[in-house]
Amino acid sequence: MADTTLMDKLVSLSKRRGFVFQSSEIYGGLGSVWDYGPLGVELKKNVKDRWWDAMVHARDDIEGLDAAILMHPKVWEASGHVAGFTDPLVDCRQCKNRFRADDPRIKGTPGRPDSQCPVCGTRGSLTEPRLFNLMFKTFMGPVEDSAAVVYLRPETAQGIYVNYLNVLQSSRQRIPFGIAQIGKAFRNEITPGNFIFRTREFEQMEMQFFVQPGTDAEWFQRWREWRMAWHQSLGLNPARLQWHQHSGSELAHYAKAAYDIQYQFPFGWQEIEGIHNRGDFDLSRHQEYSGKKLEYFDQAQNQRYIPYIVETSAGADRVALTLLVDAYREEEIEGETRVVLGFHPAIAPIKAGVFPLVKKDGMPEVATTLYHDLRRRFAAFYDDSGAIGRRYRRMDEAGTPFGVTVDGETTANRTVTVRHRDSMQQERVALDRVGDYINERVSGER
Ligand code: GAP
Repeated sequence: MADTTLMDKLVSLSKRRGFVFQSSEIYGGLGSVWDYGPLGVELKKNVKDRWWDAMVHARDDIEGLDAAILMHPKVWEASGHVAGFTDPLVDCRQCKNRFRADDPRIKGTPGRPDSQCPVCGTRGSLTEPRLFNLMFKTFMGPVEDSAAVVYLRPETAQGIYVNYLNVLQSSRQRIPFGIAQIGKAFRNEITPGNFIFRTREFEQMEMQFFVQPGTDAEWFQRWREWRMAWHQSLGLNPARLQWHQHSGSELAHYAKAAYDIQYQFPFGWQEIEGIHNRGDFDLSRHQEYSGKKLEYFDQAQNQRYIPYIVETSAGADRVALTLLVDAYREEEIEGETRVVLGFHPAIAPIKAGVFPLVKKDGMPEVATTLYHDLRRRFAAFYDDSGAIGRRYRRMDEAGTPFGVTVDGETTANRTVTVRHRDSMQQERVALDRVGDYINERVSGER
């Protein structure tokens, strides 16, 4: 399958089956903003739940937080985003399109007569590069002129730094400890694209781990290992995951060291998560800009210091896209193409489809009762329309790992058929055991 075709197929399957829709589609859509449909919202929720379980519930040394999207404007001065979160842009005076100055389609040097607009082809129409801030601005207060400018946060991390003392004191944690948060972030990206890979509104899953200076390199290494293991635990093909180390020029202004976890997408190896050693940059800057002491007093060592921070920062939408790409496959079965999303059962949006083989002989009644029982334990779906083979195929496309069919034998011996999505093998399981049977296979280790 050609790689561009795979992305086209995923976009179309996502719309058809209700994973992802274009935002405001009936108005022609809004650029690089997407909505999650019934299956997509379950998929992304499963990703976020697994992350939260691994980072917060399974550990004694990490606390959760849900900070507001709107923050004091000085936060973004302290963080370096007002001055430095920029891309160099050029405009075409002729067709009014805007490009990143390093857009490979641009010929010549922007601002000079030899430059050529990649859209309208006009020569000499491109302006000199100007720095464009990627933060979305809005106004707080009823009158725009006098109201304060506030920003939609471009990352969730700053909500953690400004709450570091609140969490430390209220939770009675000691260093080393971490704060985890899942939430929306917004960036006015100039070159968004590749479906939900780079969007203007997205969700981050970020954790900031506060450590004693001098122990940061060791924690950085540990967090690298733990985060890679987490991605592998989602069932991703390990050969499609790799590390990318940021070289000097790639390092963000705050980072002492940084590695990306990359996935091999149809459009190339790309970042899905960053692990950063941020040193004392963040807390020192917030201490300076707020005038509040953000030092930690280590009683055991009778020592005061600004903690260093090791950050793990993943995109929930990118992980969801990774799972879709990794799971998609087509198989030829008896002259027909079977489309399957082979999700790990723990992240599949629907865990079981329940089907009466035919709509008679008491089968719908048994199947409906079973469906209601199963729904109390995990996401299930009832389907009694069309041939059984077609119903299986519909569930294959949604990535549902188990199909449970109530058939002629059910009333006779109280068993049902459980059909496995990947192997298409069927086995008989006792009607009163089928809930446990599926539950054991979908809950898995986190
Ligand atoms: N606090 C550090 C930080 O925000 P980043 O590398 O800019 O670091 C972290 O972003 C993660 O957020 C990325 O690895 C990616 O998964 C996700 N992300 C960033 N920009 C995104 C965008 N425009 N669309 C979707 N996800 C994005």
